[in-house]
Amino acid sequence: MEQERLRNAIPPLLSWYRIHKRELPWRESRTPYGVLVSELMLQQTRVEAVKVRYVRFLERFPSAEALAAAPQDEVLKAWEGLGYYSRARNLHRAAKIIAAEGFPQTWSGVRALPGVGDYTAGAISSIALGLPFPAVDGNVLRILTRLFADPANIDDMGTKKRFAELLKAEYPPEAGEFCEALMELGAIVCVPNGAPLCGACPWSKLCLAHLAGKEEEFPVHAEKRARRIVSLNVYVIKCGEEYALRKRGEGLLAGLWEFPNFENDAPEFGKLLAKKSAKHVFTHIEWHMTGRLVEAEEKFPQFVWATAEQIRRQYAIPSAFKAFTEWVT
Ligand code: ADE
Repeated sequence: MEQERLRNAIPPLLSWYRIHKRELPWRESRTPYGVLVSELMLQQTRVEAVKVRYVRFLERFPSAEALAAAPQDEVLKAWEGLGYYSRARNLHRAAKIIAAEGFPQTWSGVRALPGVGDYTAGAISSIALGLPFPAVDGNVLRILTRLFADPANIDDMGTKKRFAELLKAEYPPEAGEFCEALMELGAIVCVPNGAPLCGACPWSKLCLAHLAGKEEEFPVHAEKRARRIVSLNVYVIKCGEEYALRKRGEGLLAGLWEFPNFENDAPEFGKLLAKKSAKHVFTHIEWHMTGRLVEAEEKFPQFVWATAEQIRRQYAIPSAFKAFTEWVT
């Protein structure tokens, strides 16, 4: 039943995609390396934010060989603003493997690259290699649960697996287009927030949720777990023309540069010039930050000191601290 509904849904989806797809830089000239870079960037960052950074990244590192040869700090710097920096470290490691062994030619070879999970392996296999392996993310689960008016909990791994098998069995020869058409429908028509644009949907006559007027009752989610809240005192310490920075260790945002900050402590570093609050939401943690701009009389040796210009050019500071980088002038 579902299989047949899906089979009927594929031709109108592909026709719709060819006309309505967005022009995106990674859709212009496709190399497997370019697909890898774009898919890793798109894992946790919105398309709009990825666009310019993808173009810049490929100018800076046009091939896996160029990326493999670059120092890690430069790669992290080029990743700045995209967030979730472990992706940049994984991409760097993947580039070294590809530079040595060539781009993998099978799904399992792609899946074995650092930073590539089932979803990304499906996307790369379909788009770069033309292989029939689906990429099932939240967008794809949304359009399919609506197409079938399927009440399964989409946070359940079994649901994802079931839809992946359904798609795999119907994969058309245009593997890359099919994969991106599914994502595209979820991104621009069957949108995640607010009412879907059913008037523009190639599935409006096939979609059981739409036919029942119940689009927004799908997908069904498990209850969300609460995030851990961390209160931080963040210091932008200025001494002369330089600012204090510190390199983060293991864990969240590992290896990036940050302004000194303290969880249960608010030490004094000098004269207070300004104070403001900011919040940053990660997947499992929220930082509730109180930022202080202070003028210090000495360059405390536990920090690295850099000018505003050096910070802009050489130090990757996560966007979590964005509210306070404005003080670096
Ligand atoms: N999200 C993940 N992969 C994508 C792609 N290739 N195009 C648009 N959005 C995406």
